[in-house]
Amino acid sequence: MSDNIDTAVQSIEWQEDHVRILDQTYLPGREVYSDIRDVGRMWEAIKKLRIRGAPAIGIAAAYGLYLGIKDLPENTFKSFMVEVNRVAKYLEGARPTAVNLKWATDRIKSTIRAHKDKDISEIKKIVLQTAKTIHDEDKRTCKKIGENGVELIPKNAQILTHCNTGSLATGQYGTALSVIFHAHEQGKKTFVWVDETRPLLQGSRLTAWELMNAEIPMKIITDSSAGSLMRRGEVDLVMVGADRIAANGDVANKIGTYPLAVLAQENEIPFYVAAPLSTIDMEMATGDKIPLEEREQEEVLTYSDAQIAPKKAEAYNPAFDITPHSYINGIVTQEGIIEPPFEEGFKNVFDD
Ligand code: MRU
Repeated sequence: MSDNIDTAVQSIEWQEDHVRILDQTYLPGREVYSDIRDVGRMWEAIKKLRIRGAPAIGIAAAYGLYLGIKDLPENTFKSFMVEVNRVAKYLEGARPTAVNLKWATDRIKSTIRAHKDKDISEIKKIVLQTAKTIHDEDKRTCKKIGENGVELIPKNAQILTHCNTGSLATGQYGTALSVIFHAHEQGKKTFVWVDETRPLLQGSRLTAWELMNAEIPMKIITDSSAGSLMRRGEVDLVMVGADRIAANGDVANKIGTYPLAVLAQENEIPFYVAAPLSTIDMEMATGDKIPLEEREQEEVLTYSDAQIAPKKAEAYNPAFDITPHSYINGIVTQEGIIEPPFEEGFKNVFDD
């Protein structure tokens, strides 16, 4: 896949001394870029989904950690590390489900420890360099995921996807969408059913925008239409992303993923997950313990500032759900497609 295609929109970029993000809350209506110069603004951007998607918030947290430590006094390593831990914890609290966020801050912390004999000014430079490396690696990883997943896509396939897993959600290309972009580029003539993804509409606002930019045929559907389409034989496979994958293969992803997986199994349709290895949390034995973010009721009760429920009505708004591993036919990673039993597959990949 060429590097300058339209789908390769940059959701986040380092600009000399600050971060520039494409603010996803304005899409598809307006392309608004925001400059982020301090860790508080980065926390807010992650929390409010201005930057979103598991790999992208990992990258954002890495740059955010640098912004949070770059002006710290350059005294002892010990006092510097206390502050690094504090800033990392603050960023990790912005969104609890995607493990990529903690994965990125942990990676930076261990890099710092490995250089503890250097001057603090030098360590700060290494932190920025590590954040840039995490960003660059994610681009290469997502390209590999796309290339590895193409074999799962038959010619003329009708693919159903949920939420947004494209360039917007990653360093570039995406995860599930990267597979679709690569299949399209190889002339497989794919068609995509895009779940609108209530309540924040990442499907209809963001995935539809990315697919249209790439000129990939698609139609938006309400989330509740998926089952009928599957039953009528109009879906050949489901391909989604992940926010955290437990050691047994259970997957946390956008709310509404689990019912899709159950419907897919009921209708004998393959259900695939595409994600980088950084999304696999081997310390989480099963999905039951994965923290699931619950967001404000207003996201359900209002739309674009207009009240769409009776005044004083209450809502429950979980942002993610868990899909048990038994519903998943394969997990596409940068190292290849991992098939069940996942526990064994993950161990092989991580032990290599
Ligand atoms: O709440 P969001 O929009 O950050 O949720 C994103 C998802 O659920 C994606 O499917 C997941 O992060 C994978 S992105 C490549």
